[in-house]
Amino acid sequence: MAEPFDLVVIGSGPGGYVCAIKAAQLGLRVAVVEKRKTYGGTCLNVGCIPSKALLHASEMFAEAGHAFGELGIEAEPRLNLPKMLEHKDKTVKSNVDGIAFLFKKNKITGIIGTGKLVSASEVEVTKEDGATETLSAKAICIATGSSVAGIPGVEVAFDHDTIVSSDDAIALQKVPETMVVVGGGVIGLELGSVWARLGAKVTVVEYLGTILGGMDGEVAAAFQKLLVKQGLTFKLGAKVTDVARKEGGGAAVTFEPAKGGEAETLAADVVLVATGRKPYTDGLGLEAVGVALDDRGRIEIDGHYKTSVDGIYAIGDVVKGAMLAHKAEDEGVALAEILAGQAGHVNYDAIPSVVYTSPEVASVGRTEEELKQAGIEYKVGKFPFMANGRARAMLKTDGFVKFLVDPRTDKVLGCHILGAGAGDLIAEAALLIEFGGSAEDLARTSHAHPTLSEVMREAAFAAFAKPIHI
Ligand code: NAI
Repeated sequence: MAEPFDLVVIGSGPGGYVCAIKAAQLGLRVAVVEKRKTYGGTCLNVGCIPSKALLHASEMFAEAGHAFGELGIEAEPRLNLPKMLEHKDKTVKSNVDGIAFLFKKNKITGIIGTGKLVSASEVEVTKEDGATETLSAKAICIATGSSVAGIPGVEVAFDHDTIVSSDDAIALQKVPETMVVVGGGVIGLELGSVWARLGAKVTVVEYLGTILGGMDGEVAAAFQKLLVKQGLTFKLGAKVTDVARKEGGGAAVTFEPAKGGEAETLAADVVLVATGRKPYTDGLGLEAVGVALDDRGRIEIDGHYKTSVDGIYAIGDVVKGAMLAHKAEDEGVALAEILAGQAGHVNYDAIPSVVYTSPEVASVGRTEEELKQAGIEYKVGKFPFMANGRARAMLKTDGFVKFLVDPRTDKVLGCHILGAGAGDLIAEAALLIEFGGSAEDLARTSHAHPTLSEVMREAAFAAFAKPIHI
């Protein structure tokens, strides 16, 4: 058998490919096994990247239709959906090709095929033509990600065009007249927004009494109002119990009040089921080599990403924690460093999360609800985009920035943003939390004028003293 690799990574999503590149940079001999035809996992192929291409394009379309007039631009946009989908496909291609390039550049052996553990130091790869190859490894990293979970307790017959998951909702060939989205989480609101902007009448059916469960309640409520203004309809506190294709076209979604009561049925041309994702461990051979799962089907790991078997590690969506691409990336870097003998570490208290709608929603650290529940005292500093010159010039005045700080030390405990550019602005708050910084640290940092980042500074001022422009 050939010389063993220092590291064999199974899965080339943001967790796996980043781990491989970092390990190679640190001098390890690395191979990556990937089941899809292209590298990049869910994120690059059917998740973050294609959805962002469609979110951007559909936002431009909506702006051209609704906001250009106020800016003094007369335009009547016409949708060319095939062209928009082509833009999305080109975006995906350039990103997945980029990973193949980075593998070459870092002398990583990329192998397209399905990986399976055969021992604590061997991965068997089955290629498309059925041929198999066994890779020997000093360490193995499982980074196989997640797959669509479906609706708990409900049989859903996904058919790729009428009853769809996010995989297909990024590739609908026609704008549906009506769409029901099951689940008011991140995927439901992002992809629901895309099709609503392109002309679909979208209804979101959500089990909880709020959208974006787990996000700051004040932000979620204000965000929902904006989405209603954009034409989305919400059925909250509604538990979906059935999704079925209808004869003659379309599908029907049956739901009942979560607290119990009369059932209701809604018909739609397309139903998007976006009720979460589950760790993907099918066919990996975990049981045979003794890799343990926790009670939620995730691979169990210790504080250094080691599974119950020495030499086998796991990162990303397949282990505990938020199912976010950048969390997986951070774990990939940390694991590579640990394997190279360094002190890899992830600060789970400073991982931002972003909903890429219009406006965006972003958050890092603790929410008000979490602080209240934990009995931690806090002070709030808030500032609206409406009072920012740049936001007015851009007609992007919806939303606000909210800092939650320790009332004694002024240390930032959390930051929540609803507004234009929230996904980029949140980086400033994440950095502050990473460094244990205070609202005053941010407020005393010069911010260029006129920029949206001044809303961050003013909210920080509001937390430790007083804002200037309100
Ligand atoms: P999610 O967990 O964010 O939301 C699913 C929603 O479905 C929940 O609000 C839940 O209460 C609801 N639900 C469950 N069963 C239901 C039922 N029977 N009837 C009505 N509602 C029901 O899951 P989502 O949106 O599918 O996303 C999956 C994962 O992917 C998440 O972990 C998410 O964070 C991640 N993701 C992140 C993105 C980002 O960071 N921008 C983008 C897309 C996905």
